[in-house]
Amino acid sequence: MANSRAKRNVTQARHVAMIMDGNGRWATARGLPRLFGHKRGVETVRDTVKACPDLGVTHLTLYAFSTENWKRSADEVSGLMRLLRRYIQKEVASLVEHGVRLRFIGRRDRFTKSLRALMDMAENRTARGTKLNLTIAVDYGGRDEMIRAVQTIARRVASGELSPEQVDEDLITAHLDTADLPEPDLVIRTSGECRTSNFLLWQAAYSEYDFLNINWPDFDRAAFQASIDGFMTRDRRFGAVSK
Ligand code: FPP
Repeated sequence: MANSRAKRNVTQARHVAMIMDGNGRWATARGLPRLFGHKRGVETVRDTVKACPDLGVTHLTLYAFSTENWKRSADEVSGLMRLLRRYIQKEVASLVEHGVRLRFIGRRDRFTKSLRALMDMAENRTARGTKLNLTIAVDYGGRDEMIRAVQTIARRVASGELSPEQVDEDLITAHLDTADLPEPDLVIRTSGECRTSNFLLWQAAYSEYDFLNINWPDFDRAAFQASIDGFMTRDRRFGAVSK
């Protein structure tokens, strides 16, 4: 596993994951309701997706709603669900046209039936996209994802299909929501907070992190480019010694 990572010899940030933080603060600082910040945040999502091909990014994974975000006010939660629904409805045709494959990671069981159907439709309609793999993490938590993976593996062991010794890194990776995706090279978090907040805990073990002192609605192409330029200067050793 460590070997396969090293063999990739990544010098470019092909898979970038983003913690889109600071929408609320962006709005509050302007005397606006928090939801206004999330609306602006969706515009930033659109611009960020558009920028990826020019920046050499083939995989973009965005943290849109965490397993903990249900604790927010009912108004904010329903506002975020509405934005997600509208994003899917408005963007799918354009994603297909631009060769973007859209996938969702996280739990689905706590969404309404109609939102689940919309998510399935978007995944099916964009399934042939090859230019960019866009993954949106909704009702996602790294610990929740690991619990679900361990439960599935435990069931397979209990049924005798697998032996405990067959449980290794590759097997666990294959049971995560991200089974079909490479590990992120770079994780960007906006808003000045320096924590991972339960995002891609397993997958980002060797990722580079960039914590930016701007709120998500202010993240733009120049900030994206600067983050990627910074990534290229880093010496990724994956636990080995520098050459
Ligand atoms: C964090 O800012 C942001 C979120 C919890 C939601 C992010 C959602 C979007 C950008 C819009 C929906 C996305 C898609 C793809 C349709 P915060 O509210 O925690 O900000 P704060 O820390 O300043 O309060």
